[in-house]
Amino acid sequence: MIASTSIDLVLETARVEEVIGDFVQLKKSGSNFKGLSPFSDERTPSFMVSPVKQIWKDFSSGKGGNVVSFLMEHEHFTYPEAIKYLAKKYNLEIEETEQSNEQKEQANERESLYLVNEFANKYFKNNLFKTDQGKSIGLSYFKERGFTEDTIKKFDLGYSLDAWQAFTDEALKQGYNIDYLEKTGLTIVKEEKRFDRFKGRVMFPIKSMSGRILGFGGRILINDKKAAKYLNSPESDIYHKSKVLYGIFDAKQSIAKEDNCYLVEGYTDVIQLHQTGIKNVVASSGTALTPEQIRLINRLTKNITVLFDGDAAGMRASLRGIDLILEQGMNVKVCTFPEGEDPDSFARQNTLDELVVYLKNNAKDFIQFKASLLFEESKNDPIKKAETVRDIVNSISKIPDRIKKEIYIQECSKIMDISEDVLFSTLAQINKKEFQEANEKYKEERKAFDVIKNQEPVKKVDVQYILERKIIEILLLYGNKTEDFEDLVLKENDHGDLVLEPVKQTAKVFEKVFLDLQDDEMEFSNTNFKTLYYTIIDELNQNADFELKTFVNSVDTEMANEITTILMEDERYTLDNWQRMNIYPKEKIHNVAQLVSETILSLRCFLIEQKVLEFQQETLRNKSEINREVLEEVKDYSGLKMLLSRKLNRVL
Ligand code: CTP
Ligand code: MN
Repeated sequence: MIASTSIDLVLETARVEEVIGDFVQLKKSGSNFKGLSPFSDERTPSFMVSPVKQIWKDFSSGKGGNVVSFLMEHEHFTYPEAIKYLAKKYNLEIEETEQSNEQKEQANERESLYLVNEFANKYFKNNLFKTDQGKSIGLSYFKERGFTEDTIKKFDLGYSLDAWQAFTDEALKQGYNIDYLEKTGLTIVKEEKRFDRFKGRVMFPIKSMSGRILGFGGRILINDKKAAKYLNSPESDIYHKSKVLYGIFDAKQSIAKEDNCYLVEGYTDVIQLHQTGIKNVVASSGTALTPEQIRLINRLTKNITVLFDGDAAGMRASLRGIDLILEQGMNVKVCTFPEGEDPDSFARQNTLDELVVYLKNNAKDFIQFKASLLFEESKNDPIKKAETVRDIVNSISKIPDRIKKEIYIQECSKIMDISEDVLFSTLAQINKKEFQEANEKYKEERKAFDVIKNQEPVKKVDVQYILERKIIEILLLYGNKTEDFEDLVLKENDHGDLVLEPVKQTAKVFEKVFLDLQDDEMEFSNTNFKTLYYTIIDELNQNADFELKTFVNSVDTEMANEITTILMEDERYTLDNWQRMNIYPKEKIHNVAQLVSETILSLRCFLIEQKVLEFQQETLRNKSEINREVLEEVKDYSGLKMLLSRKLNRVL
């Protein structure tokens, strides 16, 4: 259990924009930040972070909340995991009450798997640096490869002893459960027997975006044709090969900063490039790139540079996979190395400056590169040429941006010496099939949209809903503020006419709201708002130090979600540049008192209007007998409405 004082400290210190910034590339947008949703595949940003309100909202998935809920959503952390992560990020001490054995068992399974991996990593590191075998075999191997001790430590490399169950024995001795040792794949269980999976290998821990150890790659040190060069952790609840990129944790900041990501094949390529000084590099770990892996990069940058080993066969195989990257709207460059070299060996032989110059001179736009390559291969073979045209146009067809597509067609026409017409008609053919499929999908979406559209008008005229929401927003943001309200009070003047007279009144915003609404005997029509309203008023009333951040942290998830939705809703309009509803004549209101008065008055006006309408309908229904009483009331209300409108205009 984490002490509540520690939780408070963490929540006070953490900045939502900084924490999310580690996962999503955020761009300043007014007083907010926006970026691509990390929860869906999108090309226009609908993800907003508010540094002022310390909350985030993802309009594409509807998710939202505070800094902790982001980590829980994005990293699938539990609450304590998220708190611990934040403590680590901000170098805060966490006070924790010791876990009993029972509690250890209760900790959920995923957490247990992480803990096992963490233990294993410590153990492997200790082997590497502190045991004779580790030093003479493991450490010397890494040093031979040119890794410095700093690099070895940075990547948490380790060594698994050349013994059947040295690791398993130690883990069991330390109280780790054999089930978890087996599930992480660190131990292979065969009936009564247990084996260390990574026996006698140097170890590369594979980390998540946030630095947790998901699994391992282990490289063999002897030349054994029968044994695999690398062994990797099997799939588990925490390790999904297709969803991780080796090196992403150490590269993510640099990727965002450089606005480019180098993609290599192997663990050692990443490490060597990093050591040379190119830190924005990740590895697909020898398999074809998956859409999930590309999405990981897409959150950080739109630009990817694929570095190919210097063997033609490997490159050919990888070319097709690149279409997947294009499909996600990313800009792809490729760079090859001289025959026989891979990024690892090349980086080792060159200085950073040389490497940077090489990459700059040799990184080519993917489509141009592919077109040149195909042209060279097929220039004397008409049949092959037809094939290659289809191949290149197929790649171009994956690019979502129409203008880019067109430019590429023009480029390729030059490179491959084929008329643009032919290329465009090939594109049309390819598109036709995709168009038909897309059209089906569009029709379905359209149907869904129509349903929403039908509801739209109702929403649009729902002024009351919007005003009620505005009141909640005011309470959340400014409830605790003391303001000078200039209220206009109805008075009878010397001539017996009703006039409005200004009266100054100093009050807390929430008191003013509460009392005014009470005066009007106003009830919230929306039940969610009603609950929220009373919860907030109650909290403000009891707690003089009310803080939005703390409050959001204290309510249940559902309410927290409702709150972030309310607080971020107006950001959404700025996000999409939607026409703001014309309720408030002024775009930005700088004065809180004014905003409060105006909102309450608007609501009053609206309610009165409703009343008048009701009376009118009543009168219409009972046409025969004109109800004098009702008429009087309508008159009264109309007068009041006029007065209020005047008041509103004064305030504005
Ligand atoms: N790989 C794997 N299993 C294998 C071989 C390769 O998982 N049997 C993965 C590893 O992630 C490896 C990557 O594919 O890093 C690239 O393979 P390769 O180029 O053979 O390895 P290198 O990383 O270059 O390793 P080394 O330089 O140590 O030979
Ligand atoms: Mn290599």
